[in-house]
Amino acid sequence: MIGTSLKLLGIASLALGGAYAAEPAAEKSQAPTAATTTQAAQPGAAQDAAANAATPNDRGEYLARLSNCVACHSVPNAPAFTGGLKMMTPLGAIYATNITPDKETGIGNYTLEDFEKALRKGVAKDGHRLYPAMPYPSYAKISDEDVKALYDYFMKSVPAVKQATPPSEIPFPLNMRWPLAIWNVLFFDDKPYQAKKEHDAAWNRGAYIVQGMGHCGACHTPRGLAFNEKGYDESDSDYLVGASLDNWSAPNLTQAPNTGLGRWTQDEIMEFMKTGKNAHGSAFGTMIEVINNSSQFMTDEDQVAVASYLKSLKAQRETIAAPYQHDPQTAINLRSGKLDAAGATVYMQSCQSCHGADGKGYAPYLPPLAGNPSVLDADPSSLINITLNGSARIVVKGMPDSYRMPQFRVMLSDQKIAEVVTFMRTSWGNKSGTVTAAQVAKIRKETNPASDRVEVLRMK
Ligand code: HEC
Ligand code: HEC
Ligand code: HEC
Repeated sequence: MIGTSLKLLGIASLALGGAYAAEPAAEKSQAPTAATTTQAAQPGAAQDAAANAATPNDRGEYLARLSNCVACHSVPNAPAFTGGLKMMTPLGAIYATNITPDKETGIGNYTLEDFEKALRKGVAKDGHRLYPAMPYPSYAKISDEDVKALYDYFMKSVPAVKQATPPSEIPFPLNMRWPLAIWNVLFFDDKPYQAKKEHDAAWNRGAYIVQGMGHCGACHTPRGLAFNEKGYDESDSDYLVGASLDNWSAPNLTQAPNTGLGRWTQDEIMEFMKTGKNAHGSAFGTMIEVINNSSQFMTDEDQVAVASYLKSLKAQRETIAAPYQHDPQTAINLRSGKLDAAGATVYMQSCQSCHGADGKGYAPYLPPLAGNPSVLDADPSSLINITLNGSARIVVKGMPDSYRMPQFRVMLSDQKIAEVVTFMRTSWGNKSGTVTAAQVAKIRKETNPASDRVEVLRMK
């Protein structure tokens, strides 16, 4: 009996890894970042953008921003929180639900207790278990007070909209949800965040946001065999050491000096969370959803808290031994026409105009590639993906950024992309690994170019 249930659990849990793996972009007509909307092209969009660009005054609305509920529970061109975002899992698709207070199709009949159970324990009102694509293992850390503020916001300020959620496409018997109860016992601790006395208030606030509402670990912490996150706080050496999801690598956020945030100051981390850019790099891939819909809205105080918590994380899993140091020889070679390194010619023709012969870019508008932790990352999937497909727009305070990474999927073959990515990983003092054409071919097949449209999800 136990044997069967664990086996079922094993299969069912495969589905969980799909948490953020929105459906393979190849099947979509839109950008790889599924939760997007298009507002600049619409009349009146400027006003809407402005109304949505400020840090919310209402506490519950602010907490909903910090938790980024909108990124999953909304789709473009539909009212906020009406659900419908398709999330692919190896077993079939599931859909994020309507969480407006409509009594029939939404959460209008939820009491505060029901809401708390869904948010922190992963149990819906009718008792069925939610897949951890809903990040309740992180939300479990949210305090009683904040659960109540979120509940009041959803019940009183979000307009009720009748909109049925499509049923899950996971076939019987894999769609049986009871094995999730066992998963929960094995893999997660449903206690709200407990302040640590040895740390100050800012650190504790940062830990609370990063581990709980921000659910940063859902993308940045590697997953185990049952697709459980391998650790939910800093006491675990795997926590936030970087992970791959949906063909993007979310890098190491510990103080690892080369591939982590060891060289980023607290202010630089804040600048990144607020604007999506700093002297070290720019946001791209799925991190754009976090910047556009959530982190830019953080108060300065919360930005300080998050940055000081991240700065306190002990360096883990550094993959490059020697500290990064810029090597001027690459730029000397490139400028004197010495282009014998594989990828050097492509770099000069297609990349140098923006990222510089010295690889230093023109930060914060055009990011450096020299010494950039994303470029040094042992997992090259982000670099292949952004070179193939370009990047979606960062929108801060309602304003789309003016420079974008173009896509090269038509212009460059798998082999050429492998060479230019390898070139940037091994030039200017970068000491990371080589990339093969087969790695590029795989990501090419699974992804689509980023959309040109401006992407921010509205909450009102
Ligand atoms: C990473 C994506 C993601 C985020 C972020 C997210 N959710 Fe969910 N949520 C889901 C998915 C997917 C489901 C449906 C899971 C299932 O069917 O098992 C769900 C289900 C729910 C349910 C159960 C609804 C029902 O049908 O009974 C509630 C309530 C809910 N979410 C509220 C929230 C709130 C409030 C937030 C923000 C604090 C939030 N969610 C953030 C993905 C997300
Ligand atoms: C939906 C997945 C996702 C979530 C959730 C997420 N990130 Fe990210 N993050 C990424 C990806 C992918 C990258 C790599 C692209 C880039 O550099 O922007 C990234 C990059 C970053 C970087 C830049 C790292 C570097 O070395 O360039 C920082 C800092 C960061 N994330 C912080 C956070 C914090 C703090 C949270 C929680 C509030 C968070 N992220 C939540 C996906 C995510
Ligand atoms: C027109 C200017 C332009 C050109 C040409 C260009 N890039 Fe970019 N690149 C950008 C911008 C801008 C970003 C930051 C992401 C964004 O906002 O779109 C970026 C980001 C990147 C990143 C992610 C760096 C980070 O922030 O962590 C990589 C890797 C990259 N480019 C590689 C290349 C390669 C390889 C080429 C040539 C094949 C190239 N770029 C050509 C403008 C350019």
